[in-house]
Amino acid sequence: MKIAVLPGDGIGPEIVAEAVNVLNALGESFTLEEAPVGGAGYEAQGHPLPDSTLALAKAADAILFGAVGDWKYDSLERALRPEQAILGLRKHLQLFANFRPAILYKELAGASSLKPEIVSGLDILIVRELNGDIYFGQPRGVREAPDGPFAGAREGFDTMRYSVPEVQRIAHVAFQAAQKRSRKLTSVDKSNVLETSQLWRDTMIDVSKQYPDVELSHMYVDNAAMQLVKAPKSFDVVVTGNMFGDILSDQAAMLTGSIGMLPSASLDKANKGLYEPSHGSAPDIAGKGIANPLATILSAAMMLRYSLGKTEQADRIETAVKKVLAQGLRTPDIWEAGTQKVGTREMGAAVVAAL
Ligand code: NAI
Ligand code: MG
Repeated sequence: MKIAVLPGDGIGPEIVAEAVNVLNALGESFTLEEAPVGGAGYEAQGHPLPDSTLALAKAADAILFGAVGDWKYDSLERALRPEQAILGLRKHLQLFANFRPAILYKELAGASSLKPEIVSGLDILIVRELNGDIYFGQPRGVREAPDGPFAGAREGFDTMRYSVPEVQRIAHVAFQAAQKRSRKLTSVDKSNVLETSQLWRDTMIDVSKQYPDVELSHMYVDNAAMQLVKAPKSFDVVVTGNMFGDILSDQAAMLTGSIGMLPSASLDKANKGLYEPSHGSAPDIAGKGIANPLATILSAAMMLRYSLGKTEQADRIETAVKKVLAQGLRTPDIWEAGTQKVGTREMGAAVVAAL
């Protein structure tokens, strides 16, 4: 099995190094091959997603990705900015299904901003469509407003689009994920206002007939935002479009206290995937050796589970992470009084030792 390792920028190389150590400690015969991406790709080959990096990603069975981006590239034209690398990979590899689990480990209960009784034991999964919606819909642009009370003024416009097959493929992924959990699926839309959402909802209902064992419910996105902070444990699997999912998955992430704990997976229709922490390149702490590597290590566990068919090894990593937290080891982002503050390398080494 071939894993493409793309560390990227900022804390990316630091946290990916720890995840690679964990993978190597499993005793499996993976081939790990590394390539530059993001700002590192730009420095090495003049492009955030060099052809050779894209070719490696395409040839691999799975991709372990760190993070991209740095303020020093802010003045580059949009096409050369580091962030284009991740958008390019999602698009070229048709990674349309984004899995973002939000789990509150009991050892970190004090890290959430919500009351313990609201969040303790939280374990929900947000499935976000990643290839469509207003981020990619054409036409878009800036023009002179053709009509309305502001006719003649400069206006920006974007188009929200979803087709039935596009909604069907994410629906199947979400129903199958719900089948593996508590068989409850909430589809989030804004069908009281938007045509795309009405079509989304009708399609979800249609696909649900193939999954009679899953209980499908619907919620408007504004209510979903409220319920996520009021009663987050009332959800199990949530499926939604690209833009609503972008916002709700960040909101759900913060229920668990630190972005440094949250893995993610982006899958294509054959379950090939890109695995990365939910956070960015954290240039404010890069090079200091204090970044939390657990989100990346847990992303490697998701990779074993979803793309490489190694469920047992995935369980081993997740158990090792819980063990290290139970031992009281904490990077600064999750530190609280009475626990032991450690750096990136010590945290990674502790997970390897726990394995
Ligand atoms: P960020 O997630 O990099 O950082 C937000 C805050 O969380 C910072 O204070 C940072 O120090 C902290 N943080 C993040 N990860 C952490 C970890 N593992 N351990 C401890 N603390 C951690 O988001 P920000 O600051 O908005 O963006 C920084 C750069 O990252 C930008 O260039 C942005 O475009 C890029 N970015 C890249 C993503 C990707 O590669 N998929 C996703 C999000 C942002
Ligand atoms: Mg986001």
